[in-house]
Amino acid sequence: MSEFRRRLRALPDFPDVLPDFDVASAPADPAVLFRQWLEHAISAGVPQPHACSLATADAAGNLSSRMLILKDLDDDGWHFATGRNSRKGRELAENPRAAMNFYWAQLGRQVRVSGTVVELSAQASAADWAARPSADGSANPDWQLYALRPTGVEFFQAQHDRRHIRYSCPFSPVDALPINPGTDDTDTDGSLGGWPAVR
Ligand SMILES: Cc1cc2nc3c(=O)[nH]c(=O)nc-3n(C[C@H](O)[C@H](O)[C@H](O)COP(=O)(O)O)c2cc1C
Repeated sequence: MSEFRRRLRALPDFPDVLPDFDVASAPADPAVLFRQWLEHAISAGVPQPHACSLATADAAGNLSSRMLILKDLDDDGWHFATGRNSRKGRELAENPRAAMNFYWAQLGRQVRVSGTVVELSAQASAADWAARPSADGSANPDWQLYALRPTGVEFFQAQHDRRHIRYSCPFSPVDALPINPGTDDTDTDGSLGGWPAVR
């Protein structure tokens, strides 16, 4: 075994103490469960618990991924923002599908969200740009707020006996999902409205 491989093998995969995850009593709505897990990650002191990787692909299927910050979660889905002329912005224009991955190392928890990406309004995008910590009052017409509308969400809880718990919430085809108009600021319970979730 090479020295490097030995070095990797010696590293712990997960922390000594892991939280419980009882699938039987988990909320059926993945947005509600996601908010619970995010709150838990914040309380546990996970750094940047709102950061996730976002994978996109161009029309030919060439993949790319990068880290992003989650901006919101409502009936439109998981929000993120970036420049329309960035690589990911161009890829999303060609192929509006993406996958997010959140990882909260101290808790041995991962959440995967995959589905279709929609552009949110110019007004919402401008508001997101203006709310950045480094905002200087200038406008950026290239800045775009997007929502990832899931076709599947999977919650993963590591276990020391390696019988890791995976809880999948498949959705109907995206086009069939009900959209709740005008709820962007009024949603407080984290619910995804009538989106079906199956255990
Ligand atoms: C923790 C973290 C958070 C980030 N958040 C964002 C973000 O919210 N929006 C963004 O456009 N880039 C963000 N970036 C930078 C991206 O990872 C990436 O480098 C950049 O957007 C260019 O990606 P692209 O060339 O694949 O489009 C973040 C990077 C890190 C490490």
